[in-house]
Amino acid sequence: MASSPDERLSVSMIDVFEGQEEAFLAIAGEFSLIMARKNYGRSDIVRDECSPTTFYAVRHWASASAAEACHADPDVGALTSRLYQIAKVTHVVNGVRRSGPMRLVSTDRRGARLESDRRSGFDRRDNDHTEPRDDEQRQGERRIGPRRLHGQSLVIDLVAAARRARENAAAGFSHFKVGAALESADGYVITGCNVENATYGLTICAERVAMFKAISEGHREFTRIAIVADTPTLTPPCGACRQILWEFGGNLEIILANLASDEATHSLQALLPLPFDARLL
Ligand code: THU
Repeated sequence: MASSPDERLSVSMIDVFEGQEEAFLAIAGEFSLIMARKNYGRSDIVRDECSPTTFYAVRHWASASAAEACHADPDVGALTSRLYQIAKVTHVVNGVRRSGPMRLVSTDRRGARLESDRRSGFDRRDNDHTEPRDDEQRQGERRIGPRRLHGQSLVIDLVAAARRARENAAAGFSHFKVGAALESADGYVITGCNVENATYGLTICAERVAMFKAISEGHREFTRIAIVADTPTLTPPCGACRQILWEFGGNLEIILANLASDEATHSLQALLPLPFDARLL
């Protein structure tokens, strides 16, 4: 984690194509040398213990401007194009603030957001049977739970997480694969994909899979969800998902994206005006 206030951290997940591990390690070595020589910072490569062709590139930038300079560096550009020929790269955490879909995850922002959600979301129930368990119990589960980001200056690339989740879709009937990534208020990312079956009617959408996974793992407060499908027109959540997201997530920020770089952001309130929920029971 960053040791000076200027430092930034980025993490990418790199799936190296079959037989290209050595080429990848050579590129990673060259990149590390450039990082050190030009004072951009330091880069570590971590191999995934469960998947020998998956690596995590952890970049500790000296500062946000060092990261920008590195991104603009033609030597780095040449290495990156070589990398893209032998691996699939997913940016998981981008600690360098950018405009667009990447968002700063800060306790302050979450605090403000939750306050508004409280008036319109999950917490407004009179009879909330879903109180979070005590901290000790939750803490124990966190160690084995989904990725959690510590610190205040990290950025979660939620769309990248949704794109990756989409690859797991069990969509053998519609062939319409959808991925979702839900951000909890305490910085976890919980993903989901659509799961279809032979009865068709028991299909469950990516958004609900993500939300139900999150609820079952003890999360109760949420900030955003990204939804990704491979369509030129961005795919919004279906009516059933809007209802579930509203009841459990309140006025979430909904980020719609596709496999190109098209994106749009909506508030759930705008997508579900005049909602029915427990206040009305
Ligand atoms: N689907 C989702 O997972 N999310 C959406 O927002 C829209 C639809 C799934 C359900 C089904 O497996 C397939 O897409 C076609 O409707």
